[in-house]
Amino acid sequence: MPPFNTRISKQLEKRLDSRLSRSIRTIEAGNTASLSFQSKRHVNFSSNDYLGLAADKTLSQAWQRGIDLYGNGSGASPLVTGFSKAHADLEASLCDWLGFERAILFSSGFSANQAVLFSLMKEGDLLVQDKLNHASLIEAGIHCSATMKRFRHNDIEHLKRTLTSGGLVVTEGVFSMDGDLAPLADIHDITQVNSWFMVDDAHGIGVLGEEGRGSCHSANVKPEILVVTFGKALGLSGAAVMCNQDLGDYFTQFARHHVYSTAMPPSLAHAISHSIEMVRTQQWRRDKLAELQSEYQQRFSMLDGYIETETPIKPFLIGDSGASVQIAMALSDMGLWLTAIRPPTVAKGAARLRVTLTANHNINQVKALANAIGQAVEKVAEWNRRF
Ligand SMILES: Cc1ncc(COP(=O)(O)O)c(C=O)c1O
Repeated sequence: MPPFNTRISKQLEKRLDSRLSRSIRTIEAGNTASLSFQSKRHVNFSSNDYLGLAADKTLSQAWQRGIDLYGNGSGASPLVTGFSKAHADLEASLCDWLGFERAILFSSGFSANQAVLFSLMKEGDLLVQDKLNHASLIEAGIHCSATMKRFRHNDIEHLKRTLTSGGLVVTEGVFSMDGDLAPLADIHDITQVNSWFMVDDAHGIGVLGEEGRGSCHSANVKPEILVVTFGKALGLSGAAVMCNQDLGDYFTQFARHHVYSTAMPPSLAHAISHSIEMVRTQQWRRDKLAELQSEYQQRFSMLDGYIETETPIKPFLIGDSGASVQIAMALSDMGLWLTAIRPPTVAKGAARLRVTLTANHNINQVKALANAIGQAVEKVAEWNRRF
């Protein structure tokens, strides 16, 4: 008998014992500033829908129009018959928006990141990544045949020491769990000598820079490879790898997640093009976020656990994993939805509530959150002292 059963039950037990077990909760109606869970409404401070597009009616209509024009599924991988005019139009609008020669489409950011590293990195190559990069990047780095080294989070001096020869340096533009920005200009300078630079801007695209062009545009750098995703500020799903002509040709031939996977539905590609247009022209969404962020800073800066960020991702540090779950539950009782983020997603002892703001929130909701977090933290501390 293979050892699967024993291994599975041991791993599950270990997760439970360490109080790190996770479960999926079914949201009955979501994707707006409020969601419904077990028939109770909650203000949603957990989504990545930064610009409030996930439930936008105009965007829904664009997707429906895409279905009228192109039908439902793409029916095949891009190199067979899955690539339609909707995909070509989307690639063209991405190139125009972000200033790259090529855009290669993927069904998710996870697969885009893995495709880049698996297809590009070969034995003897050096891959250098920020320690806090997303699981899709770290996992691909571990399993690809290149040598992977990691530098301390945002530590330029450590990066310099780690990059012992030419290679590929990879960072996120905005870090998903900490909400802080990578020092893109400094890293770019370092890679200019004999390396390439790749930025995963899943959380910066749409939110930062002129017309929402993201972290790189905001820092005035152009990496060799830029990954943008459509499941966060753009309100949909999927991703693109932005690069030059030759690299685009290479990925078209060798990026297996692109070549051997059904292309995204053409209606979705059509909707993403529409979303890009909205992101570019509706500056009011970013202005609204800025206003909410300023309120957040004012209300939260006096609370223990507050961490200042320049993005709508606002980690609120708790430390202990168990307490972070208790606090999230207490907040849920008060009608506020926040997810406790625990190891292994973040480092041991760095459990947190990950607060995210979206253009659909209002100032009163941010004020209410500040009061509620203060109360929930006290309530849980009191409970843990007594029992
Ligand atoms: C930094 C980063 N990169 C990539 C991804 C994966 O993107 P997707 O959700 O489109 O697979 C995520 C998702 O959470 C992310 O935070």
